[in-house]
Amino acid sequence: MSLTVELALSERAAGRSIALRLAEVIAAKPAAVIGVATGSSPEPIYAALADLVRDGLDASQVTWFALDEYLGLPAAHPQSYRSVLERALIRPLGLDPASLHVPAGHPATADADAEAYERLIGEAQVDVQILGIGHNGHIGFNEPGTPFASTTHRAVLTSTTRKANARYFDSLDLVPRECLTQGIATIMRAGTLELIASGAEKAPAVARALRGPVSEDCPASVVNLHGSVRVTVDADAASLLSSIAS
Ligand code: PGA
Repeated sequence: MSLTVELALSERAAGRSIALRLAEVIAAKPAAVIGVATGSSPEPIYAALADLVRDGLDASQVTWFALDEYLGLPAAHPQSYRSVLERALIRPLGLDPASLHVPAGHPATADADAEAYERLIGEAQVDVQILGIGHNGHIGFNEPGTPFASTTHRAVLTSTTRKANARYFDSLDLVPRECLTQGIATIMRAGTLELIASGAEKAPAVARALRGPVSEDCPASVVNLHGSVRVTVDADAASLLSSIAS
């Protein structure tokens, strides 16, 4: 059982540290399966991975699985998570877009698509899953109250999450209301979890996840039940870690 908290000097250093560990995984297993997250937190990881690829890392055999996708945005919409990950990860690393799996975003077939994604990811077996954390403690789009036993499913975004993501859209109204997300049980099947958080605004969620009770009220607290977790935080995101009793 291991949960390590690493204090990084900056957001960029946090990304570099995780990218270096991913590079080790890929060097040992070129056809590794890596779970990827969207949002601003993981961006430094992808930027550092692109640097490592420029320096000779071969990531061409890796298969990538996204955590989630909005329902109702066409795949080619600039804010669909397929587009975001193609921009942040696939193109900078010079990878084949077919190596990236993202849940489908069609509301009409969401339940069948969720089952298909769960099956696909189950067959692939994720080696390392990258996670951000929401202000409300969500992981993927598993909002507070989502059962720890959940598998890939259709979910409704909370207003906190929609407001946080409105920065990527022209108005709050345009932020989708639903998504398909890997469930918490899906995420927990990954061999290793790499959670990244930076900035003071994430400090309460990080502290609740790591120092508060393990509870479905704080989805990220489930990482305490996983055997291999690394949480990489900058000083601001770590700032409340000592003030909440374990
Ligand atoms: P952020 O999102 O990295 O953009 O803050 C994280 C999340 O909502 O999981």
